[in-house]
Amino acid sequence: MTEELKIIAKKDIKPGMFVQSYGAGTFRDPFVKVERFIESFEDIIKYIPDDIEKVEIVADKILWTESPESKKQSTADEAAASLSAALPESSRIHEEALSYARKFIGDVRNGKSVRLEEAEPMVGSIIDSLSTNLPAAVTLAFLKKFDEYTYTHCINGNLFSLLLGKDLGFGLKELYKLGLAAMFHDVGKGRIPSQVLNKPGKLTNGEFKLMKEHPMLGLTELRKIKGLDLSILRGVVEHHERVDGKGYPRGLGGDKIHPFAKIIAIADVYDALTSVRVYKKVMTPAKALSLMFKWKSSDFDTDYLDRFIRIMGIYPPGTLVQLEDGRFALVLETNESSSLMPKVKVLYSKAKKPVPAECIDLAAQGSGGKEIKVLRQPDPSELGIDMQQLARFLV
Ligand SMILES: [Fe+2]
Repeated sequence: MTEELKIIAKKDIKPGMFVQSYGAGTFRDPFVKVERFIESFEDIIKYIPDDIEKVEIVADKILWTESPESKKQSTADEAAASLSAALPESSRIHEEALSYARKFIGDVRNGKSVRLEEAEPMVGSIIDSLSTNLPAAVTLAFLKKFDEYTYTHCINGNLFSLLLGKDLGFGLKELYKLGLAAMFHDVGKGRIPSQVLNKPGKLTNGEFKLMKEHPMLGLTELRKIKGLDLSILRGVVEHHERVDGKGYPRGLGGDKIHPFAKIIAIADVYDALTSVRVYKKVMTPAKALSLMFKWKSSDFDTDYLDRFIRIMGIYPPGTLVQLEDGRFALVLETNESSSLMPKVKVLYSKAKKPVPAECIDLAAQGSGGKEIKVLRQPDPSELGIDMQQLARFLV
Protein backbone atom coordinates (compact mmCIF):
# COMPACT_ATOMS: atom_id res chain seq x y z
CA MET A 1 0.00 0.00 0.00
CA THR A 2 1.47 3.34 -0.97
CA GLU A 3 1.43 6.08 1.54
CA GLU A 4 -0.29 9.33 0.64
CA LEU A 5 2.07 12.23 1.18
CA LYS A 6 0.73 15.72 1.76
CA ILE A 7 2.52 19.04 2.05
CA ILE A 8 1.34 21.26 4.89
CA ALA A 9 2.54 24.47 6.52
CA LYS A 10 4.85 23.93 9.47
CA LYS A 11 2.47 25.95 11.66
CA ASP A 12 -0.24 23.33 11.02
CA ILE A 13 1.75 20.38 12.37
CA LYS A 14 0.11 18.81 15.40
CA PRO A 15 1.36 16.12 17.76
CA GLY A 16 0.27 12.75 16.39
CA MET A 17 1.21 13.51 12.77
CA PHE A 18 3.91 11.54 10.97
CA VAL A 19 6.35 13.98 9.34
CA GLN A 20 8.11 12.42 6.37
CA SER A 21 10.46 15.27 5.50
CA TYR A 22 10.93 19.01 5.19
CA GLY A 23 12.47 21.12 2.45
CA ALA A 24 11.48 21.97 -1.11
CA GLY A 25 13.20 19.10 -2.94
CA THR A 26 15.47 21.47 -4.85
CA PHE A 27 19.25 21.44 -5.07
CA ARG A 28 19.53 24.41 -2.71
CA ASP A 29 16.75 23.23 -0.45
CA PRO A 30 16.70 19.42 -0.61
CA PHE A 31 14.24 17.19 1.20
CA VAL A 32 15.52 16.29 4.64
CA LYS A 33 14.08 13.10 6.05
CA VAL A 34 12.37 13.30 9.45
CA GLU A 35 10.40 10.04 9.29
CA ARG A 36 8.90 10.11 12.73
CA PHE A 37 5.77 10.79 14.69
CA ILE A 38 5.64 14.21 16.27
CA GLU A 39 4.79 13.45 19.87
CA SER A 40 4.73 16.96 21.31
CA PHE A 41 5.07 20.59 20.33
CA GLU A 42 8.59 20.34 21.67
CA ASP A 43 9.33 17.74 18.96
CA ILE A 44 8.45 20.32 16.30
CA ILE A 45 11.13 22.63 17.69
CA LYS A 46 13.56 19.73 18.01
CA TYR A 47 13.23 18.12 14.58
CA ILE A 48 12.21 20.93 12.22
CA PRO A 49 14.48 23.97 11.81
CA ASP A 50 13.06 27.41 12.51
CA ASP A 51 13.27 28.73 8.97
CA ILE A 52 11.27 25.88 7.45
CA GLU A 53 7.79 26.78 6.25
CA LYS A 54 6.47 23.55 4.73
CA VAL A 55 6.72 19.91 5.67
CA GLU A 56 5.59 16.70 4.07
CA ILE A 57 3.39 14.42 6.18
CA VAL A 58 1.99 10.94 5.57
CA ALA A 59 -1.70 11.78 5.40
CA ASP A 60 -3.15 8.49 6.64
CA LYS A 61 -0.53 7.83 9.28
CA ILE A 62 -1.84 9.66 12.29
CA LEU A 63 -1.85 8.53 15.87
CA TRP A 64 -5.14 10.07 16.91
CA THR A 65 -7.87 12.17 15.41
CA GLU A 66 -10.26 14.60 16.94
CA SER A 67 -13.75 13.31 17.54
CA PRO A 68 -16.24 15.53 15.65
CA GLU A 69 -19.12 15.15 18.10
CA SER A 70 -18.77 16.20 21.68
CA LYS A 71 -20.94 15.75 24.74
CA LYS A 72 -21.70 18.59 27.08
CA GLN A 73 -18.35 19.40 28.54
CA SER A 74 -17.74 20.33 32.12
CA THR A 75 -15.55 23.26 33.07
CA ALA A 76 -12.03 22.60 34.36
CA ASP A 77 -13.13 23.38 37.93
CA GLU A 78 -16.08 20.98 37.62
CA ALA A 79 -13.77 18.29 36.22
CA ALA A 80 -11.37 18.81 39.16
CA ALA A 81 -14.27 18.65 41.64
CA SER A 82 -15.78 15.46 40.18
CA LEU A 83 -12.34 13.83 39.97
CA SER A 84 -11.61 14.75 43.56
CA ALA A 85 -15.04 13.43 44.64
CA ALA A 86 -14.58 10.14 42.77
CA LEU A 87 -10.94 9.49 43.68
CA PRO A 88 -11.42 8.23 47.27
CA GLU A 89 -13.81 5.46 46.16
CA SER A 90 -11.76 4.65 43.03
CA SER A 91 -8.61 4.55 45.20
CA ARG A 92 -10.30 2.19 47.63
CA ILE A 93 -11.22 -0.17 44.77
CA HIS A 94 -7.73 0.16 43.31
CA GLU A 95 -6.08 -0.62 46.66
CA GLU A 96 -8.40 -3.55 47.22
CA ALA A 97 -7.58 -4.88 43.74
CA LEU A 98 -3.88 -4.44 44.48
CA SER A 99 -4.09 -6.42 47.70
CA TYR A 100 -6.02 -9.08 45.84
CA ALA A 101 -3.24 -9.22 43.20
CA ARG A 102 -0.60 -9.50 45.96
CA LYS A 103 -2.62 -12.30 47.51
CA PHE A 104 -3.27 -14.41 44.43
CA ILE A 105 0.27 -14.08 43.14
CA GLY A 106 1.54 -14.98 46.64
CA ASP A 107 -0.82 -17.95 46.73
CA VAL A 108 0.47 -19.22 43.38
CA ARG A 109 4.06 -18.79 44.61
CA ASN A 110 3.19 -20.87 47.65
CA GLY A 111 1.62 -23.62 45.57
CA LYS A 112 -1.99 -22.67 46.37
CA SER A 113 -4.72 -22.35 43.76
CA VAL A 114 -6.35 -19.14 42.61
CA ARG A 115 -9.84 -18.59 44.07
CA LEU A 116 -12.26 -17.26 41.53
CA GLU A 117 -14.93 -16.26 44.10
CA GLU A 118 -12.69 -13.40 45.19
CA ALA A 119 -11.76 -12.29 41.68
CA GLU A 120 -15.25 -11.89 40.25
CA PRO A 121 -16.47 -9.11 42.59
CA MET A 122 -13.12 -7.38 42.11
CA VAL A 123 -13.57 -7.28 38.33
CA GLY A 124 -17.15 -6.07 38.89
CA SER A 125 -15.93 -3.18 41.05
CA ILE A 126 -13.40 -2.16 38.40
CA ILE A 127 -16.09 -2.20 35.70
CA ASP A 128 -18.26 -0.03 37.97
CA SER A 129 -15.48 2.43 38.72
CA LEU A 130 -14.86 2.84 34.98
CA SER A 131 -18.52 3.66 34.44
CA THR A 132 -18.76 5.99 37.44
CA ASN A 133 -15.74 8.19 36.73
CA LEU A 134 -13.42 7.12 33.95
CA PRO A 135 -10.77 9.84 34.54
CA ALA A 136 -10.42 8.73 38.19
CA ALA A 137 -9.94 5.08 37.21
CA VAL A 138 -7.38 5.96 34.51
CA THR A 139 -5.60 8.42 36.82
CA LEU A 140 -4.96 5.61 39.30
CA ALA A 141 -3.44 3.50 36.55
CA PHE A 142 -0.75 6.15 36.10
CA LEU A 143 -0.11 6.80 39.78
CA LYS A 144 1.68 3.53 40.25
CA LYS A 145 4.54 2.59 42.49
CA PHE A 146 7.53 1.30 40.59
CA ASP A 147 8.36 -1.40 43.13
CA GLU A 148 4.92 -2.95 42.84
CA TYR A 149 4.93 -3.53 39.08
CA THR A 150 4.00 -7.21 39.28
CA TYR A 151 0.75 -6.29 41.07
CA THR A 152 -0.11 -2.93 39.47
CA HIS A 153 0.39 -4.61 36.10
CA CYS A 154 -2.44 -7.11 36.82
CA ILE A 155 -4.79 -4.27 37.73
CA ASN A 156 -3.78 -1.95 34.92
CA GLY A 157 -3.83 -4.77 32.38
CA ASN A 158 -7.35 -5.36 33.57
CA LEU A 159 -8.37 -1.70 33.45
CA PHE A 160 -6.94 -0.97 29.99
CA SER A 161 -8.44 -4.22 28.60
CA LEU A 162 -11.86 -3.34 29.98
CA LEU A 163 -11.66 0.15 28.47
CA LEU A 164 -11.04 -1.41 25.07
CA GLY A 165 -13.69 -4.10 25.61
CA LYS A 166 -16.26 -1.43 26.47
CA ASP A 167 -15.37 0.52 23.35
CA LEU A 168 -15.82 -2.66 21.29
CA GLY A 169 -19.36 -2.89 22.65
CA PHE A 170 -18.90 -5.98 24.84
CA GLY A 171 -21.85 -6.78 27.08
CA LEU A 172 -21.45 -7.11 30.85
CA LYS A 173 -20.98 -10.91 30.72
CA GLU A 174 -18.19 -10.64 28.16
CA LEU A 175 -16.59 -7.80 30.10
CA TYR A 176 -16.47 -9.97 33.21
CA LYS A 177 -14.73 -12.77 31.30
CA LEU A 178 -12.32 -10.35 29.65
CA GLY A 179 -11.60 -8.75 33.05
CA LEU A 180 -10.83 -12.13 34.60
CA ALA A 181 -8.53 -13.11 31.72
CA ALA A 182 -6.75 -9.74 31.99
CA MET A 183 -6.45 -9.96 35.79
CA PHE A 184 -4.84 -13.39 35.51
CA HIS A 185 -2.92 -12.93 32.25
CA ASP A 186 0.46 -13.11 34.02
CA VAL A 187 -0.54 -15.50 36.81
CA GLY A 188 2.04 -17.98 35.47
CA LYS A 189 4.76 -15.55 36.57
CA GLY A 190 3.99 -16.68 40.11
CA ARG A 191 5.76 -19.88 39.12
CA ILE A 192 8.89 -18.08 37.88
CA PRO A 193 11.65 -17.64 40.51
CA SER A 194 11.70 -14.01 41.73
CA GLN A 195 15.42 -13.61 41.03
CA VAL A 196 14.57 -14.11 37.32
CA LEU A 197 11.28 -12.20 37.46
CA ASN A 198 12.78 -9.12 39.11
CA LYS A 199 16.28 -9.29 37.61
CA PRO A 200 17.39 -5.71 36.97
CA GLY A 201 19.77 -6.57 34.12
CA LYS A 202 19.43 -8.39 30.85
CA LEU A 203 18.12 -11.95 31.05
CA THR A 204 20.33 -14.80 29.87
CA ASN A 205 18.96 -16.98 27.05
CA GLY A 206 17.99 -19.63 29.58
CA GLU A 207 16.21 -17.12 31.82
CA PHE A 208 14.40 -15.62 28.83
CA LYS A 209 13.25 -19.10 27.79
CA LEU A 210 11.95 -19.65 31.31
CA MET A 211 10.09 -16.30 31.29
CA LYS A 212 8.43 -17.27 28.02
CA GLU A 213 6.87 -20.24 29.75
CA HIS A 214 4.60 -18.02 31.86
CA PRO A 215 1.54 -18.18 29.55
CA MET A 216 1.59 -21.99 29.65
CA LEU A 217 2.27 -21.97 33.39
CA GLY A 218 -0.71 -19.65 33.77
CA LEU A 219 -2.89 -22.03 31.79
CA THR A 220 -1.83 -24.92 34.06
CA GLU A 221 -2.75 -22.83 37.12
CA LEU A 222 -6.16 -21.76 35.84
CA ARG A 223 -7.09 -25.20 34.58
CA LYS A 224 -7.30 -26.19 38.23
CA ILE A 225 -10.43 -24.01 38.51
CA LYS A 226 -13.46 -26.05 37.48
CA GLY A 227 -15.79 -24.61 34.85
CA LEU A 228 -13.66 -21.62 33.88
CA ASP A 229 -14.78 -20.38 30.48
CA LEU A 230 -12.52 -21.37 27.58
CA SER A 231 -12.34 -17.73 26.43
CA ILE A 232 -10.64 -16.80 29.74
CA LEU A 233 -8.07 -19.57 29.36
CA ARG A 234 -7.37 -18.51 25.77
CA GLY A 235 -7.05 -14.85 26.77
CA VAL A 236 -4.35 -15.88 29.24
CA VAL A 237 -2.40 -18.43 27.23
CA GLU A 238 -2.44 -16.41 23.98
CA HIS A 239 -1.60 -12.93 25.30
CA HIS A 240 1.96 -13.09 23.91
CA GLU A 241 0.89 -14.39 20.50
CA ARG A 242 1.35 -11.80 17.77
CA VAL A 243 -0.72 -11.27 14.61
CA ASP A 244 2.28 -12.02 12.36
CA GLY A 245 2.64 -15.44 14.00
CA LYS A 246 5.93 -14.56 15.68
CA GLY A 247 4.67 -14.64 19.25
CA TYR A 248 4.65 -17.44 21.79
CA PRO A 249 3.91 -20.08 23.01
CA ARG A 250 2.37 -21.48 19.81
CA GLY A 251 3.15 -18.94 17.10
CA LEU A 252 -0.55 -18.41 16.30
CA GLY A 253 -1.30 -15.62 13.84
CA GLY A 254 -4.16 -13.32 12.75
CA ASP A 255 -7.65 -14.59 13.52
CA LYS A 256 -6.33 -17.74 15.17
CA ILE A 257 -5.67 -15.58 18.24
CA HIS A 258 -8.64 -15.10 20.57
CA PRO A 259 -9.97 -11.50 20.67
CA PHE A 260 -9.45 -11.39 24.47
CA ALA A 261 -5.76 -12.21 23.96
CA LYS A 262 -5.45 -9.50 21.29
CA ILE A 263 -6.97 -6.95 23.66
CA ILE A 264 -4.80 -8.04 26.59
CA ALA A 265 -1.68 -7.90 24.37
CA ILE A 266 -2.31 -4.18 23.76
CA ALA A 267 -3.10 -3.42 27.43
CA ASP A 268 -0.07 -5.45 28.54
CA VAL A 269 2.45 -3.71 26.29
CA TYR A 270 1.02 -0.23 26.97
CA ASP A 271 1.24 -0.67 30.73
CA ALA A 272 4.72 -2.21 30.54
CA LEU A 273 6.03 0.67 28.42
CA THR A 274 4.51 3.40 30.59
CA SER A 275 5.67 1.85 33.87
CA VAL A 276 8.86 2.68 35.73
CA ARG A 277 10.94 -0.41 36.37
CA VAL A 278 14.17 -0.97 38.21
CA TYR A 279 15.99 -1.04 34.88
CA LYS A 280 14.08 1.57 32.90
CA LYS A 281 12.64 5.05 33.22
CA VAL A 282 9.01 5.82 32.56
CA MET A 283 8.01 6.23 28.90
CA THR A 284 5.44 8.92 28.11
CA PRO A 285 2.05 7.72 26.84
CA ALA A 286 2.70 9.48 23.51
CA LYS A 287 6.03 7.71 23.04
CA ALA A 288 4.48 4.35 24.00
CA LEU A 289 1.63 4.81 21.52
CA SER A 290 3.95 5.83 18.70
CA LEU A 291 6.14 2.77 19.33
CA MET A 292 3.10 0.51 19.39
CA PHE A 293 1.85 2.12 16.16
CA LYS A 294 5.17 1.17 14.58
CA TRP A 295 4.64 -2.46 15.58
CA LYS A 296 0.97 -2.29 14.64
CA SER A 297 0.78 -4.61 11.64
CA SER A 298 3.23 -7.17 13.03
CA ASP A 299 2.15 -7.34 16.64
CA PHE A 300 -1.37 -6.11 17.16
CA ASP A 301 -4.85 -6.23 15.73
CA THR A 302 -4.92 -2.97 13.79
CA ASP A 303 -8.55 -2.12 14.52
CA TYR A 304 -8.10 -2.75 18.24
CA LEU A 305 -4.93 -0.69 18.41
CA ASP A 306 -6.51 2.23 16.54
CA ARG A 307 -9.38 2.17 19.01
CA PHE A 308 -7.05 1.97 21.99
CA ILE A 309 -5.03 4.94 20.76
CA ARG A 310 -8.24 6.94 20.35
CA ILE A 311 -9.50 6.02 23.84
CA MET A 312 -6.26 6.69 25.70
CA GLY A 313 -5.28 9.77 23.72
CA ILE A 314 -1.95 11.47 23.92
CA TYR A 315 -2.49 13.07 27.36
CA PRO A 316 -4.46 10.63 29.56
CA PRO A 317 -5.86 11.72 32.94
CA GLY A 318 -3.32 11.36 35.74
CA THR A 319 -0.29 12.16 33.60
CA LEU A 320 2.00 15.13 33.96
CA VAL A 321 2.35 17.75 31.22
CA GLN A 322 4.42 20.89 30.82
CA LEU A 323 2.59 23.83 29.29
CA GLU A 324 4.03 26.20 26.73
CA ASP A 325 4.54 28.84 29.42
CA GLY A 326 6.78 26.41 31.30
CA ARG A 327 4.35 25.50 34.11
CA PHE A 328 3.76 21.88 35.08
CA ALA A 329 0.25 20.47 35.38
CA LEU A 330 -1.64 17.23 35.92
CA VAL A 331 -4.21 16.17 33.34
CA LEU A 332 -7.70 16.06 34.87
CA GLU A 333 -9.76 15.02 31.89
CA THR A 334 -9.39 14.60 28.14
CA ASN A 335 -11.53 16.81 25.92
CA GLU A 336 -13.32 14.46 23.53
CA SER A 337 -13.46 16.96 20.72
CA SER A 338 -9.95 18.27 21.23
CA SER A 339 -7.65 15.54 22.49
CA LEU A 340 -4.56 17.75 22.36
CA MET A 341 -6.15 20.33 24.67
CA PRO A 342 -7.08 18.56 27.93
CA LYS A 343 -8.36 20.04 31.18
CA VAL A 344 -5.42 20.40 33.54
CA LYS A 345 -4.55 21.43 37.08
CA VAL A 346 -1.43 23.59 37.24
CA LEU A 347 0.75 22.68 40.22
CA TYR A 348 4.33 23.83 39.61
CA SER A 349 5.95 26.93 38.18
CA LYS A 350 8.45 26.95 35.35
CA ALA A 351 11.12 27.09 38.08
CA LYS A 352 9.67 23.82 39.44
CA LYS A 353 8.30 25.47 42.59
CA PRO A 354 4.80 24.55 43.89
CA VAL A 355 2.22 27.21 43.00
CA PRO A 356 -1.41 27.66 44.12
CA ALA A 357 -3.43 25.19 42.05
CA GLU A 358 -5.21 26.55 38.98
CA CYS A 359 -7.57 24.51 36.81
CA ILE A 360 -7.57 25.35 33.11
CA ASP A 361 -9.53 23.91 30.22
CA LEU A 362 -6.99 24.31 27.43
CA ALA A 363 -9.74 23.81 24.84
CA ALA A 364 -11.85 26.64 26.22
CA GLN A 365 -9.36 29.47 26.36
CA GLY A 366 -11.20 32.60 25.35
CA SER A 367 -10.22 34.99 22.65
CA GLY A 368 -7.75 37.65 23.65
CA GLY A 369 -4.65 36.54 25.45
CA LYS A 370 -2.36 33.84 24.18
CA GLU A 371 -3.68 30.32 23.85
CA ILE A 372 -1.58 27.95 25.96
CA LYS A 373 -0.82 24.53 24.56
CA VAL A 374 0.79 21.46 26.06
CA LEU A 375 4.49 21.59 25.23
CA ARG A 376 5.50 18.08 26.27
CA GLN A 377 5.06 15.22 28.72
CA PRO A 378 7.91 15.34 31.25
CA ASP A 379 9.05 12.59 33.57
CA PRO A 380 7.76 13.44 37.11
CA SER A 381 11.28 12.79 38.42
CA GLU A 382 12.23 16.12 36.76
CA LEU A 383 10.30 17.77 39.59
CA GLY A 384 12.12 15.62 42.11
CA ILE A 385 8.89 13.80 43.00
CA ASP A 386 7.04 10.70 41.95
CA MET A 387 3.49 10.34 40.68
CA GLN A 388 2.32 9.05 44.06
CA GLN A 389 3.26 12.39 45.62
CA LEU A 390 1.55 14.31 42.84
CA ALA A 391 -1.70 12.44 43.50
CA ARG A 392 -2.27 14.32 46.74
CA PHE A 393 -2.92 17.48 44.73
CA LEU A 394 -5.97 15.87 43.14
CA VAL A 395 -8.03 15.21 46.25
FE1 LIG B 1 2.81 -11.85 30.00
